[in-house]
Amino acid sequence: MYFMGGKKVIGKEISKVIKEVIMQGDTHRPYMEPFVGMCGIMLHMTEAGQRPCFAFDLQPDLIALWQDICQGWHPPQKAISKAEYDQWRQEAQPSSMRAFVGYGCSYSGKFFGGYIKANSKETPRWEKNRLSLERVIPHIAGADIRFQQADYRDLDLSQFPRETVIVCDPPYFQTTGFSVGSFDHQEFWNLMREWSRTNDVIICEQQAPEDFVSIWQRPITRNMHFKDHNQQAKMEHLFIHESVADRLFGESSTLEAV
Ligand SMILES: C[S@@+](CC[C@H](N)C(=O)[O-])C[C@H]1O[C@@H](n2cnc3c(N)ncnc32)[C@H](O)[C@@H]1O
Repeated sequence: MYFMGGKKVIGKEISKVIKEVIMQGDTHRPYMEPFVGMCGIMLHMTEAGQRPCFAFDLQPDLIALWQDICQGWHPPQKAISKAEYDQWRQEAQPSSMRAFVGYGCSYSGKFFGGYIKANSKETPRWEKNRLSLERVIPHIAGADIRFQQADYRDLDLSQFPRETVIVCDPPYFQTTGFSVGSFDHQEFWNLMREWSRTNDVIICEQQAPEDFVSIWQRPITRNMHFKDHNQQAKMEHLFIHESVADRLFGESSTLEAV
């Protein structure tokens, strides 16, 4: 499904790096995402239920969507009119349907960011998103994932198995914000330093403070994502803290082999 900042296109490639470089092929090692969004990375991490997974996001409709999907929910096979879209926008109660309408029928996958009118010449957006979600559902519904609404700052790492690998895909610095409010990037990196003391933590971003090292990078163009509509290719990175790099690869190792 189109989702602002979603890893639909590069999620599989990212998951390969996590599985091979960080988990070294261990298909049972626990995995956690504090910013799970539309499951663009998570869907490739589940190992058909072998791996215990934990998924969080602050956006309540998203979490309702994934929790309902785990209970057998499917998106409706019918068009969503502008009137219905406006009704769901007003609805106070978070729900899977509100998530599907709010993200799946809006421009740029931005939550209620503007209704996309159906173009008679091509498949309507809601239908493309429905089919896209249907392709993700088997990976999620058949997996061992616990979805819970939470602010990443409230997560207590001692509640997860010690060896849990954590992948953070937060709102990027200097990009359009999410419906859940503003994001303090300095506070985020400070917490990443703290978490990295006990866990292998990987962060998806385009830039990071100097004590974080890039273990993977790839150019990506996502002009809709940037306030200045800059169409230049940006570099997407996976960062780890230098202490995690030392733990994983040894102090004397270079990261070129990664
Ligand atoms: C870049 S998106 C994640 C995309 C996801 N990896 C995917 O492929 O769909 C960032 C996510 O962070 C969530 N978010 C923003 N602030 C948050 C917070 N304080 N705690 C937890 N989640 C938050 C947003 O709701 C959004 O789903």
